[in-house]
Amino acid sequence: MRVLVTLDGNVADPDQPQIRVDDLGLMRGDGIFETVLVVEGKPRELDLHLNRLARSASLLELPPPDRAVWEARVRQVIDGWSWADSPEMALKLVYTRGIDGGDGTPTGFALGLEIAQKVRDQRRDGVAAVILERGFDSGLAERAPWLLLGAKSLSYAVNMAAGREAARRGADEVIFSAADGVVLEGPTSNLILAKGRTLRTPPPNIGILPGTTQAGLFRAAERAGWSVKIESIGLDELTDADGLFLASSVRKVTRVHTLDGTRLPDSTALHAELTALYESEY
Ligand SMILES: Cc1ncc(COP(=O)(O)O)c(C=O)c1O
Repeated sequence: MRVLVTLDGNVADPDQPQIRVDDLGLMRGDGIFETVLVVEGKPRELDLHLNRLARSASLLELPPPDRAVWEARVRQVIDGWSWADSPEMALKLVYTRGIDGGDGTPTGFALGLEIAQKVRDQRRDGVAAVILERGFDSGLAERAPWLLLGAKSLSYAVNMAAGREAARRGADEVIFSAADGVVLEGPTSNLILAKGRTLRTPPPNIGILPGTTQAGLFRAAERAGWSVKIESIGLDELTDADGLFLASSVRKVTRVHTLDGTRLPDSTALHAELTALYESEY
């Protein structure tokens, strides 16, 4: 099932062409997006997603997204979905610079999609990950804001290529490393490291996305007495952890069971605990 609503409120057929070939989102990846998890009609972390959409728009100097309009489109897609048939939806919000040479009106749409079976399996079974270089040091994002590190832009070809490289190496997922030996994030996820009763994740100012799933988990964990820290994580700390997890809206909190071909200590029980905490937020 798929449900598509354009920014001007039209319910459209996702099997029919809707985007012009001269849309800058298509021609240059010049636009932004969000993916919101909706469970049984309830969007998770919608405020944080809309805040991040606004932040990405500001980084790309796109017109500020009209929050009330986006909220209305989200509602329309949710109302058009058949929740009895499919209790979870990945809701994409896409916002581009519009037509090349046009009047600057952005193109936007909200598209509800099924969650792939592979992602559901990985939530249950965990993933094998490889560390891949991202090539920049953790200070570059602040030195060079025009690189848009940390914006959720439509230019995800590199992120997708990294996923294919992981598959070539026999793994499911990637953890990007910075040139100065710290951990960044996954191509579509944040890394969370558990050690003792502390959860850590790297800070957004090193050129990564502030994760809404990570934020939800950290809120719940803190209430349950965990200590939570947003701080730099060295690559050398990964193999020393009690558990590594990749968090994102569609994958929720997914366990990393193997890193660069080496099996990590069993974190199944820890994963169950963190998943229960994350779910308790909603
Ligand atoms: C690069 C990147 N980092 C982190 C995330 C996780 O963000 P969220 O938990 O808000 O889905 C995503 C989501 O797709 C992402 O693309």
